[in-house]
Amino acid sequence: MLTIPKKLLLGSATAATQIEGGDLNSNWYHWSLAGKIANNESSIVAADHYNRYPEDIQIMSELNQEIYRMSIEWSRIEPVKGVWSQEGIDHYKDEMAMLLKNGIQPLVTLHHFSCPEWLQKEGAWVNSDTVERFLIFTGKVVLELGNMVSEYCTINEPNVFAMDTYMDAKYPPGHKDDIKSYFKASKNLIVAHLRAYKLIHNIRAEHKFSGITKVGIAHHLAHFEVDSKNPLTHLSKKLMDYSFHDLFTKGMIEGKLSMPLGVGYPEGKGRFCDFIGVNYYSRHIIRSTMNPSMLFGEVTVDESVPDSRKNDLGWEIYPKGLSIILKKLYKDYPLPIYITENGIPDVNDTKRAQFIYEHLKELVTLIEEGIDIRRYYHWSLLDNLEWNDGYGPRFGLVEVNYNTLKRTIRQSGKFYGELIKHRHISKEMKQTYNIKDVSYE
Ligand code: GAL
Repeated sequence: MLTIPKKLLLGSATAATQIEGGDLNSNWYHWSLAGKIANNESSIVAADHYNRYPEDIQIMSELNQEIYRMSIEWSRIEPVKGVWSQEGIDHYKDEMAMLLKNGIQPLVTLHHFSCPEWLQKEGAWVNSDTVERFLIFTGKVVLELGNMVSEYCTINEPNVFAMDTYMDAKYPPGHKDDIKSYFKASKNLIVAHLRAYKLIHNIRAEHKFSGITKVGIAHHLAHFEVDSKNPLTHLSKKLMDYSFHDLFTKGMIEGKLSMPLGVGYPEGKGRFCDFIGVNYYSRHIIRSTMNPSMLFGEVTVDESVPDSRKNDLGWEIYPKGLSIILKKLYKDYPLPIYITENGIPDVNDTKRAQFIYEHLKELVTLIEEGIDIRRYYHWSLLDNLEWNDGYGPRFGLVEVNYNTLKRTIRQSGKFYGELIKHRHISKEMKQTYNIKDVSYE
């Protein structure tokens, strides 16, 4: 049996580019046109959420969701530099109003891996002017959404974004092993967050918008281990932890730039997060390599992990890692924690309910130990475009048939919906959904 404490609110997360479709002005549409997405797939239809959001909110409601994390597509608000689209603004206002009417509290992400194509052409995040452009966009969104949204997540996973864009060539403009740009963009993303944090607070206070303003990040934290006693491997793990985790944690929470990003506190000393959002997926084994990106080590999966403990993309299912990283994080920064993403690609839906159960169990234990965890946003509500991997990986509590765009709630979705309703997993539910208490190391 598992009881969910009242303070832990439950819901799901999505990102605009991955579900909306229909946007011709984003850099991901142009990336699709260049054939950079698996099987030549495109962001142009996705799950057609842009047109079907009333139906999707109805589904969220059926699944008893209390909270919903979504992103605003910058290119829909500012399709041309300096030109606002009233249609885009009205669309999101309407979506927010509908969420609120259904008792679902939104958490809005302002940058989730995508930007307008005009900004991409100007160099996007390697250009320091982008910080200012992001602040202008942020100010506009916060003003327009006014009383409807009090919680914002500035930037999603700056570490994954910089890595996949400048080291692994997966996201536009697709650079390979471009360490210089990795650090340049990382610095700009951190500074953008620090300044957006202040800006959002200032605008909401000045206009006396209702609700307690909460601004944070969604930081991707993975659990790293090494596979041998080789000192080089340990060095790689240290470098990886530093350049993929710590630079961003310190930067975005404390406002501190560390080398090679810079030194000191560009926006002063302070706390730049009202909550820390954590996106957690897996454990990775770090090996050292001699390639140009050796700085980051090679990320692998432990070969002894059985298939039953892997998801469709081969990532290990390792709930204990979530506890390990949260304990450390909370010790360093005792701030409220939101799990802004946690999920599994599982086309046959045989592992997702169990995955949710195991991760929630870890969270409940941590809450009992005094760690202030307040939100769990399951990734994802719907099947969606998994960036350069296309539509193959199926992360949804709800299945999307990409031919008909019909939605079907998966068994795991029903399980999650019942769990939210009762805030409890009974013996009967465990039987119905085939949930087991397994021990894993
Ligand atoms: C995260 C990302 C999401 C989603 C998820 C699943 O890194 O923020 O957009 O793609 O991974 O892989």
